[in-house]
Order: sequence, then structure tokens, then C-alpha cells
Amino acid sequence: MSQWWRDAVIYQVYPRSFADTNGDGIGDLAGIRDRMGYLSQLGIDAIWLSPFYTSPMKDGGYDVADFRDVDPMFGTLADFDALVAAAHAKGIKVIVDIVPNHSSSDHAWFSAALAAGPGSPERARYHFRDGTDGPPNNWQSYFGGGAWRRLPDGQWYLHMFDDSQPDLNWDNPEVRDYFLGTLRFWLDRGADGFRVDVAHGLVKAPGLPDAEEEAAPSESAPAPYRDQDGVHEIYRDWRRVLDSYDGDRMAVAEAWVDSPEHRSRYVRADELHQAFNFDLLQAGFSATDFRKVIDAELATSGTVGAPATWVLSNHDRKRHATRYGGGAVGLDRARAASLLMLALPGSSYLYQGEELGLFEYEDLPDSARQDPVWERSGHTDPGRDGCRVPLPWKATGPSLGFGSAPGWLPQPAGFAELSVETQDGTPGSTLGLYRAALRLRRRHRPATLTWNPPAGPDVLSFANGALTCVTNFGTTPVAVDGEVLLSSRPLADGRLPANATAWLSA
Ligand code: NOJ
Repeated sequence: MSQWWRDAVIYQVYPRSFADTNGDGIGDLAGIRDRMGYLSQLGIDAIWLSPFYTSPMKDGGYDVADFRDVDPMFGTLADFDALVAAAHAKGIKVIVDIVPNHSSSDHAWFSAALAAGPGSPERARYHFRDGTDGPPNNWQSYFGGGAWRRLPDGQWYLHMFDDSQPDLNWDNPEVRDYFLGTLRFWLDRGADGFRVDVAHGLVKAPGLPDAEEEAAPSESAPAPYRDQDGVHEIYRDWRRVLDSYDGDRMAVAEAWVDSPEHRSRYVRADELHQAFNFDLLQAGFSATDFRKVIDAELATSGTVGAPATWVLSNHDRKRHATRYGGGAVGLDRARAASLLMLALPGSSYLYQGEELGLFEYEDLPDSARQDPVWERSGHTDPGRDGCRVPLPWKATGPSLGFGSAPGWLPQPAGFAELSVETQDGTPGSTLGLYRAALRLRRRHRPATLTWNPPAGPDVLSFANGALTCVTNFGTTPVAVDGEVLLSSRPLADGRLPANATAWLSA
């Protein structure tokens, strides 16, 4: 299929929390392979695997010690090959994460840099600077605290995330070549694409000048460590590599920038194929907010010929059922938002467990928290563990079917009722809703969007080919016309209840 990614539904697997086959409490590649039938039945087009590379796991694997190997806790390269074969056998594409902004401090390059000392070519792969009166500039880590750490020899190194994640120096041709080789390594093993971590951050402004903001960096405001023009040259090089392979390989950028227009620069015809649009992830559950985000995304992605992308949850953000208020209302709204998203043109990203309506584990015991954000923020920010809890496959067992032992994070009360086992075949279940939506979506292939006149300030309605999608963000039921194909809550007397979406035949 040509340009499969243009309207693909891509399911994010967080390997550590998906399925554990060897009883060590940590999910593994074999677990993902074993559940390929589940993923195929769900009806997704591709999986994106968060990092499974060799890592001390200081940042859940986004601290990579060997970019071209599998960490033993996740399996082996042979397990990766078997996973790809199993996915491809079911027509599912496999996207892997690539983490080019930084390595782990356990990477052989960083050890060599420490050993070689100031001024050495080994240090030139990272950002090392002198600074006797304090750090070389005022940059702050995204995870809290300063972005520089001092070594006993007096030099400082830059780490925009944890101090176990030194930033790589992309002015160094060796770094560029190494990542081109890493792309080829995974493409040769059958990867269909890459999710590019911190795609906006690789190039730093010359001279590493002070940032205007000295406070902890916001996610997207302009800064000397973000969205520098030079990053685009890197992605042009990457595109040439991707295009040199058959099979329509792709890449999607995690680009936190200050406008949809800036985001669209990452997906120009000779750069990457998609960039995540995180605006729905940050929007409130309201007709005004959703309309604004959808219009902006369709307008700007269209100008460069790239598909729109949509995300409601991922491994970095509070799950949307909880963001929308939690409990029964939060779940209703989450189901409504998901059904709306899946009717939009472009590509949608799902995060494992949202198809079960999982909520954030906000009361996770502090002693269990592992995200570096928790420590680095001085325990003021709980971090992201609450959305990374092992999946409940069954209603019983030491980790609800995740594995034969308790998982690396405990599961909250309430996950048993949301397990796959409980929902499979249960009328009205969230799992059933996602399966039905993905089945219908395959048939309708949403491609264009035409807004219908709103039936009220809290209602959005649009046509997408033969499908009409209506969402009621308000509190009173609204009348809808047409044959109901699917709805996130049952209609009563032809009226769509509060916090619900219906798909109708136009
Ligand atoms: C973005 C990833 O999604 C997040 O989980 C990670 O902590 C940072 N990049 C640093 O790699």
C-alpha cells in the first residue's frame, strides 16, 4: 500500500508495561509478539515501540547505552526480528523509537569522554564546557534543576533531561554519521519507520547563549536549545536514507515547537513524514478547544502536503480519561474524544490501554515512583509513572495477566474491571467501541472534513466522506439525524446524550 502512514492508526506500545513473558515483572518483546493477535483484532495499522534498547533505565529507556542492541530485560535482537515477522504476517507495520538528542551516561562514548579529558575528540561528541564561576549558561533541564553537571576535572556537560542523559553534539560529523548508520541498522532489520525523540532539540544555537527564560523551560517557547533552523538539514539527510529503502518507510517527529506553522517545517516534502500534533493532548474537553485545534492542524499540515496527526494520550501525559475529570464522566468524555479523533482525516496515535479506558494511577505510592521527574522536581511533580502502569489482561492474578509475577509498578484497584478479559465480548465495553470504530474506519477511510452547522455551542458535527461525526460536549442531549453506525453512549429517542460522540451515515 502506498503511503500507508497517511491515514494509519498507530498504537504506541510501552514495552516495559505491555506483557511480561518471563515473570521478571518487566514487559518484553516476546510479550508483544505473543499479543499480535490482540493487536490485529483491535484493527490498528502499525505499532510504535517505545525504546527497548540497552539502557540503565534512568528514564524508562530514553537513556540509551547502545542504540543498536536490545536490553536483556526486553529480550534479544532475535526477539526483535521475531516480533517484526509476527507483525508483518498480520499486516501490521513496526515503528521504532530513535533517541538522537542524548545518550545514556552509560554509553561507551560518554565513558570514553570522561576518561579522555578536556579538549579531547571524545568530549567533542557531547557539549563539554569550562566554567569556573558556575555553569556555562542559564539553561534549565526539562526534568527540573540546572541543565549542566560539573565533573571533578572542572568541566561541565550539558543534559537537557536527567544528568544521566548527556546531550550529543550534532555539530560533530561523527554523531551525524553514527545515527545515519543506526537508521540503516533498524531499517535493515525490517523497521517500517521511526519515532524521533526530541526532534526539535538536536541543534543548539552557536555559542550556547543564555536563554531568555531562566525558569524551567516551557515545552515549546522559542529557546536557543529548541527548533533551531539547523535541525532541518539533519532530517533531509535522514529522508534520503529512508527513501533509499523500499516499502514506504517513514518517520514521525516529536517536535515541541511554538506553532503549527513551525511544526509543519519538520514535514516538508524532503524531511520527515509526520510530526505529532500534541494540541488535542493539551486541549480541554470543549467544542471550542477541539474545533480550534482541528482547524489549525488541517490548515497547516495541508500547506506542506503532510497528513494531520492526532494524539489524546501517550507515555508522558496524564491519561485522557483522568484529564477529563476521571470516574464515569471522565471515561464517557474519553470515549467521546477518541471516537471523534478516529473520524478525523489523517493519522491517529493510540496509547496502550486507552482502548480499555484505563485511567491514570494518581495515587501510586511515592515509594514506587521511578520517573526521574519525581526526584529532580524535589517531589513537587509526581512524574509520568501513573500512565505507565502494566496493562491488565485478566481480572485476576499477581499482575492481572501482565505476567506471572507482580509488575514493576503496582496496578490500582479498578484495573481488574477494565481488563481485556473482562471487556472482551462485553456489550458497551470500551474495547468493543475501539474495535468497532477501527473496523468502520477501515471501511470509510476518512480523508476530508466538512463542518456542519453547529446544533449548539457545545456540539461539533462534521462530515467525512460517507460518515458524519457528532460530538456533544455539553450537558443536555441533542437530536441527531441519520442512521447511527456507532456511538460512545447509547442514544435515547434519537438524542445524543452529554459527553458522547456518534458516527452516523451521512
Ligand atoms: C520524550 C519522551 O517521550 C520522554 O519520555 C523522554 O523522557 C524525553 N523525550 C527524553 O528522551
